[in-house]
Amino acid sequence: MQHHHHKKSYFFIVVSMVAAIAGILFGYDTGVISGAILFINDQFQLTAQSNGMVVSAALLGAIIGALASGQIADYFGRKRLLIVVAIIFALASIVTAVSANVLEFVIGRIIIGIAIGIASYTAPLYISEIAPANHRGALVSLNQLAVSIGILVSYIVDYFFAAHGMWRWMLGVGAIPAIILFIGMLFLPYSPRWMISKNRIEHAIQILRRIRGEHHPEIESEIKAIHESLNVQHKHWSILFAKNIRPALAVAAGLAIVQQFTGINTILYYAPTILKLTHYQGVQGAILSAIPIGIVFVIFTVIGLPLIDRWGRRPLLLLGLVGMSIGLLLLAWVFAQPVHSTLLQGLALASLLLYVACFAFSLGPIMWLMISELFPLSVRGWGSSLATAVCWTSNMIVTFTFLIMVKYLGASGSFCVYFVFAILSIIFVYFFVPETKNVTLEQIEANLYAGKKARHIGA
Ligand code: BGC
Repeated sequence: MQHHHHKKSYFFIVVSMVAAIAGILFGYDTGVISGAILFINDQFQLTAQSNGMVVSAALLGAIIGALASGQIADYFGRKRLLIVVAIIFALASIVTAVSANVLEFVIGRIIIGIAIGIASYTAPLYISEIAPANHRGALVSLNQLAVSIGILVSYIVDYFFAAHGMWRWMLGVGAIPAIILFIGMLFLPYSPRWMISKNRIEHAIQILRRIRGEHHPEIESEIKAIHESLNVQHKHWSILFAKNIRPALAVAAGLAIVQQFTGINTILYYAPTILKLTHYQGVQGAILSAIPIGIVFVIFTVIGLPLIDRWGRRPLLLLGLVGMSIGLLLLAWVFAQPVHSTLLQGLALASLLLYVACFAFSLGPIMWLMISELFPLSVRGWGSSLATAVCWTSNMIVTFTFLIMVKYLGASGSFCVYFVFAILSIIFVYFFVPETKNVTLEQIEANLYAGKKARHIGA
């Protein structure tokens, strides 16, 4: 092996993969509660409301984390922040695992949530500041792939511990990816962009040489571009609401709402519960049936990655939403039937899989991708942080209302509500979401400043 005298370096791929472990953490935490909640319900005698609170606690933390992370990341730097996040996550996982009552459990989950909210935003930020521009899209979506892998791993872990009712271990195991992230981050460089913001230009050049290759021709122009972008980056966040920026904000926040209000996390958090309603055998059987959902999720995320740049965002979003609508309509129908035969159970599982597959190649990655593409450089940090907070807030509203909705509308009625949102989302995407395939960020920015309508700020 000749790894010494390469002109080019692909170290940025390794760096991105390590940082994306934060995505695994985010996903593991999303998924783990779906299996654990079945046992926690019994352990702490939860009501519909307190059940919703246990599931939503991490989301409340995530909203706080997402909103606060911008300033903290700028002050301490992304690398140090991710290290701190990993430590908080490891400790809080242990707190939830040993919690003696529901209050301790909820507090532990809120702290985990803060870590997750910060990571959900800081990891992509760190990756995008390390990645060369022409690989940024793929590397940002790598984070979403990590999220779906984290979910799958959580289902598998849940399954093994469910046999002995060991819900505490399900949560405790979350400390492992946190420790891996902690150790990995110690070896990663600081973000060169953050370094420049601290006026440590020489150090930034060294980092870029290390991650791009010793004599990479573009290092100087890259430093220059970062420097220039920093000159305009200190503007006040209120310019996000300026007339020319509003279309970007509307589309980004709109996509964040659409991603959540079409019910993805209800399906993910409650997949075992949903399948238990169809009388799958026992708790472990219900968790087992969630594993194919996790596998389909990962497979269709991988299938989607190259298509996002080939087919474009709009066709994938529309196709995905149509598939999700069909899945939701089928679920609504199945749950309206009085008798739950084996055939209906199979149909419930098939509808869930259709829905999840369609989310995985469309709304999942494309929402995160587009909130990082749409804003002009000067407000990109603020903009995507705000859209991230909108995403977590919507997530919490949907999660908290689901069980209450089931109580009053029934499962079938609840899926009908998500179906209606999915139809509204198709209309939203069709009329308002731009096509950003093969469009440079500079072109999007120019279109915004030229006063174009949301639908036309891309191609
Ligand atoms: C969403 C999360 C969701 C996850 C599932 C993300 O894009 O923001 O709410 O749990 O995908 O993979």
